[in-house]
Amino acid sequence: MTPEELSELAVAERQRLDRLAHQINVCTATACHASGSEAIKTRLTAEVRERGISGQCLIRGVGCRGLCTNGPMVSVEPQGVLYQHVTADDAPALLDSLASEPVSHIQAPTDDPFYTRQHRIVLEHAGEIDPEQITEYIAVGGYQALAKALYEMSPADVVDELTTSGLRGRGGAGFPTGLKWRTVAKALSDRKFVICNGDEGDPGAFMDRSVLESDPHRVLEGMAIAAYAVGAHEGFLYVRAEYPLAIKRLTTAIRQARQRNLLGDAILGTPFTFHVEIRLGAGAFVCGEETALIASIEGERGSPRPRPPYPAEVGLWGRPTLINNVETLANIAPIIKNGGAWFAGIGTEKSKGTKVFALTGQVKNTGLIEVPMGISLREIVFDIGGGVPEGRSFKAVQTGGPSGGCIPDELLDSSVDYESLTRLGSIMGSGGMIVMDNTSSMVEVARYFMEFSMTESCGKCIPCRVGTAEMHGILTRFCEKRATERDLALLEQLCDLTRHASLCGLGQSAPNPILSTLRYFKQEYLAALESNQPEEVGAAAEEGRS
Ligand SMILES: Cc1cc2nc3c(=O)[nH]c(=O)nc-3n(C[C@H](O)[C@H](O)[C@H](O)COP(=O)(O)O)c2cc1C
Ligand code: SF4
Ligand code: FES
Repeated sequence: MTPEELSELAVAERQRLDRLAHQINVCTATACHASGSEAIKTRLTAEVRERGISGQCLIRGVGCRGLCTNGPMVSVEPQGVLYQHVTADDAPALLDSLASEPVSHIQAPTDDPFYTRQHRIVLEHAGEIDPEQITEYIAVGGYQALAKALYEMSPADVVDELTTSGLRGRGGAGFPTGLKWRTVAKALSDRKFVICNGDEGDPGAFMDRSVLESDPHRVLEGMAIAAYAVGAHEGFLYVRAEYPLAIKRLTTAIRQARQRNLLGDAILGTPFTFHVEIRLGAGAFVCGEETALIASIEGERGSPRPRPPYPAEVGLWGRPTLINNVETLANIAPIIKNGGAWFAGIGTEKSKGTKVFALTGQVKNTGLIEVPMGISLREIVFDIGGGVPEGRSFKAVQTGGPSGGCIPDELLDSSVDYESLTRLGSIMGSGGMIVMDNTSSMVEVARYFMEFSMTESCGKCIPCRVGTAEMHGILTRFCEKRATERDLALLEQLCDLTRHASLCGLGQSAPNPILSTLRYFKQEYLAALESNQPEEVGAAAEEGRS
């Protein structure tokens, strides 16, 4: 396929869709799938066939629309009608309504702040196109950025554009993407690799899974552009095996892209070659850490190694390797298409663009959201999230998963950007955001995350292996009201030690949930100590007698 043929195909596909009177989009991403959306799609397809309107009405499966809590979601385009909590039995009424008014009992508002306050770049096609049809991605301009990079830009131009954009890695650390690409591009080697990190092990996080399920070609296009920019010809998509739908759609997408000559040899009629393969992760959180991930792809046990050298210089099989997160790569095509300056115009001075969050916990609207950097936590929790359910009050919001922290009510007006969240004692992380209400015990929350870090520690270094277990033990004593003043002092020392002496990010950031709850909710730790006092006093008296 040449760029001209790509454009012709896009026009032909758009014309085909424009000729349809109705397009009914049924969300078939994981949450809606689990609540029966395939049955809705099957029923709608059968009804459309029976009514003889297949030529005017397309039924398609699409990716996540975001408000998963109200699923299964269905939309009717171009009329712009949205339905929620749909069942297969609603299919006849839904089709009858095409010629009249929408079905009121399942109609969802489209002017809700949940939708209007978002800014969708990464998720722009999620819920709009069929992720299993490459032609639908091409119709919305897919692979045009790759064509532009290959035909109009040198690899150095692509890296410059990325640098101008100010994009920072969405996998957690927020490292400048342009700088990372430049390092790999500069490295001298006859073989380089691009790896897409889709391990996503944080509890409660499902951003990357959703992007892969909803728009897999966007990630493949980002990978191909990255490979061109850094001089790589081989790529791996590392996805956890617990994501079967994402893996299925990626497999289909890779096959279709190869068939259309958008991956593989002589891409778009140029000498550029890029082959992509999927590698399945077995569900260890630490395998998301880049050096552990590389070891896992190499067939070794997935445990981190010291850096430097960084993978950009010594990576997979000792070769320069670019590792980027799914969301980072999903940002590449729009940046190349619209220019780095366009992207840099969104967000704050140091945090550009948007961020996808999985909003969960005690909040009315749970689901997937994409917001501009610089938005306040309050806007996310109360406007987009709809606040905490009736009868309860807001207590804290946790960002960054097991590596992050809890932010209290009085700091809700803080800006969501890398620097601000770090100043607050949390981190941006990969995008988990959990809302807690007044019934939550912050010591319990800290213990929950510490249990996760302890269980997921690979055990290679002592500060993390022993430190997480000791901290978990102390937190358990606090939860069971058995802790002493000495425990509190020891907990603080262990946080410091584990943070500074651990080998990788897992151990280094494992104390964060404790440190942030000690910072903002210390009274809960002290209250636990107070409730232990009678026993303490009793124990001291016993000691004095003996
Ligand atoms: C314990 C641990 C787990 C991680 N898990 C992930 C993950 O699931 N996905 C991811 O993209 N990055 C993860 N990272 C960060 C990666 O090491 C790496 O920084 C990232 O993939 C780089 O991509 P980016 O620059 O696009 O963010 C993890 C880091 C640590 C320390
Ligand atoms: S910090 Fe923890 S997870 Fe990382 S290498 Fe050490 S033991 Fe393994
Ligand atoms: S999975 Fe359907 S709206 Fe999220």
